[in-house]
Amino acid sequence: MSEKTVLITGACGEIGQALVQNLAARGGYRIVTADLAPLAESLRGLSAEHIQGDLVNKVKIFYDYDFDVIFHLAASLSSKAEVATEEAHRINVEGTMQLLMMAAYRSEKYHKRVKFLFPSSIAAYGLPSAEAKHAAGTVAEDQWNHPHTMYGANKLYCEKLGEYYSCYNGQRHLDPNPPTMLDFRAIRFPGLISAFTVPSGGTSDYGPEMLHAAAQGKPYACFVREETKISFMAMPDAIKALLMLMDAPRESLKHMVFNIAAFSLTAGEFREWALRAFPSAQITFEPSARRQGIVDSWPEDVDDHLARAEWNWKPDYDVQRFFDEYFLPEIRKRYQRVSLRSME
Ligand code: SER
Repeated sequence: MSEKTVLITGACGEIGQALVQNLAARGGYRIVTADLAPLAESLRGLSAEHIQGDLVNKVKIFYDYDFDVIFHLAASLSSKAEVATEEAHRINVEGTMQLLMMAAYRSEKYHKRVKFLFPSSIAAYGLPSAEAKHAAGTVAEDQWNHPHTMYGANKLYCEKLGEYYSCYNGQRHLDPNPPTMLDFRAIRFPGLISAFTVPSGGTSDYGPEMLHAAAQGKPYACFVREETKISFMAMPDAIKALLMLMDAPRESLKHMVFNIAAFSLTAGEFREWALRAFPSAQITFEPSARRQGIVDSWPEDVDDHLARAEWNWKPDYDVQRFFDEYFLPEIRKRYQRVSLRSME
């Protein structure tokens, strides 16, 4: 089988690093990475080529590449996007639009559907209040699509752009000989937690921040209230989902945007789990009105039956397995290594 060429933007971010490592381990891919930052240490030797810089300016370069698959992960996350809205729009919308146009152009010109994998988010939802959120419980893809944040609005709109370029580009789908269009596939991710990296600029960050602080014996003041509930997922499950959706045959997909769920818990429950593993952890709650408001607009949980039905999605990690088999063993190794190094 010939090697597939894959572009991963935002490759130095949390999902990016884990995805590059997984794809490289799978084998059979020429991986081109792109990021604002230089190639991360953890990706050395795994990326065939790294393109550093602002995607909006760099996208011209990509017209000459024969990409089979694009994972467009570059984004400005929800908390950061609220303080730099124009920059967020440029990164999240203009960057995505440019890349979609490139992938659509190449699909048409070479009669080969470029697969475009897009990480959307629970931020695409917007519930009007904490009470409405609680009453709504688990939500499906087409409900409550009224995001309160710049990031959420950007993600929801880019889902629509992806559908547009996949189905209706220039209304040429109505021509007697319709062109080959790109193959857009999106996942609405819950809050993701990696044992190896810490997120920055997001609002679900209190989950991973709390756990990483507890593991290092550092005090942590959580910026949402104890009863605040959203869904979370282990990073290996997020990567598994991206690869499963990439591999899914087009004919089995009836939708383009999919929720995926693993476990949903409150910030207070997170604290209990952290205390079980690290009994001396100091975790307090000091809610920030703005960030609380954002999480109050996100659903408590998401309905992922479409992903289960159309591409056999199923997470490997429920909350128990997440702690016992992924997070705690890895995090202990990681911070032990750090403390041993600091003793050298
Ligand atoms: N984790 C993201 C954020 O908090 C949501 O997709 O912004």
